[in-house]
Amino acid sequence: MSSPQAPADRLQSWDSIEFWVGNARASAGFLCAAFGFDITAYSGPETGVADRASYLLEQGGIRLVVTAGLTPESPIWNHVRDHGDGAHDLAFVVDDTEATFEAAVARGARAVREPYELTDEAGTLRLAAIATFGETQHTLVQRDNYRGHYCPGFSREGLPTSPPGPEVGLQSIDHVVGNVEDGRLDEWVSFYEDVMGFTQLRSFDETQIRTEYSALRSTVMWNGNNVVMPLNEPAEGLRKSQIQEYLDTYRGPGVQHLAFGTPDAVATISALRERGIRFLEAPPTYYADVRDRLGFLDIAWDDIERLGILVDHEPSGYLLQLFTEPITDRPTVFIELIQRGGATGFGEGNFRALFEAIEREQERRGHL
Ligand code: FE2
Repeated sequence: MSSPQAPADRLQSWDSIEFWVGNARASAGFLCAAFGFDITAYSGPETGVADRASYLLEQGGIRLVVTAGLTPESPIWNHVRDHGDGAHDLAFVVDDTEATFEAAVARGARAVREPYELTDEAGTLRLAAIATFGETQHTLVQRDNYRGHYCPGFSREGLPTSPPGPEVGLQSIDHVVGNVEDGRLDEWVSFYEDVMGFTQLRSFDETQIRTEYSALRSTVMWNGNNVVMPLNEPAEGLRKSQIQEYLDTYRGPGVQHLAFGTPDAVATISALRERGIRFLEAPPTYYADVRDRLGFLDIAWDDIERLGILVDHEPSGYLLQLFTEPITDRPTVFIELIQRGGATGFGEGNFRALFEAIEREQERRGHL
C-alpha cells in the first residue's frame, strides 16, 4: 500500500484533459458537432491571454480543453509539429497542490512547473505540473479557494451556440490510456505505483492480447477510486503492433484513447452514428459468436447488433463498448464509448475482434 504522503491520496478526480491542436476553433467545432459537447468557456486575446486560444468543452462530468498557439514561438506548435493534434495534459483535482507536487517530486517525479496561482474575482486556483510519459503532463489543480466556473482567463460570454444534433449523453471519463515505449511498460507502471501511489488493477500480457499478427502488453493503473489509466506497450508479433504504429506516427509515447462512460450505450452510439462518427466494425462473425456465448444477458441484442456495439461479460456483470476511428489526422487518438452493467474490466473478450478490426485499418494505411 502507498504511504499517507502519496499523491494518489490527495487526488480527488479527473479535472480536465487538454489537447494541443493546430486549430482550436475547428477542433472545438468538431467535438461539439460530432460528440455533442458544448463550448462553456473561452480564453484568448479577448480575455487577456495573448499567445494561445483555448475552448473549454463540457458534457456530463467530462471537461476537455482544446488549445492552439497564436504565435510561431508558442511551445504548442512544437508539440503539434512533432505529434500532430494530441492530448498534452491529463489534469487531476487535488486537495492541496503544493503538498501533492512536493510529494510527487520527492518520490521521483520530474517537475514541469512549480506551484503557481491564478487569481480573478472568483478566487484563486492553485496549480503545478509534473511530467509523465512522452511529452504528456499531469497538472495538479486545487479548486477549494476558487468559485469560478473553470479557470481565471476564461470567459463565458459570447460563446458559439452548439450545433443541432441528437443528445449523446456522455457522463464521465471512464479511463484514459497511454501508449509507452517498447520495453518500458514496467518503468511507467513503477512511476504510477512508486511516485504517484497508484495500484495495479489488471494486467494483460502478449499471450492474452494478440491476433495472428500482432500483440501488446497492458497494465491498468488506478488511484483505487475514480482515476483509471491503462498503459500499453507493443509486443513482438509477425507484423507491426498497433501500439508501434501509434509510437511511429505520434513520434513517441502519448495518450491513445479516452473512454467516456454512458448510462445508455444504445442511445449514445445511435446519436453518434447520426452525427457522422465512424467506428471500428466488428468482424461479420462477431454477433453469431457473442450471442452464442452471452445470449443469456438481458440486453437490447437487436439494437446492439444493428449499431455494431461490442458486448463483454465477466462474473460481476456485463459491459457494452465501441471504439471510434482516430479523431486526429494521424492514426493516433481515438475515443471509446463504454456502458458498465456491473463489469469492471475493459472488454477483454473483445480484444481479438477489436484488434483484428484495427489491423484491417492499419493495412489500409500501409502500416502493417
Ligand atoms: Fe479502453
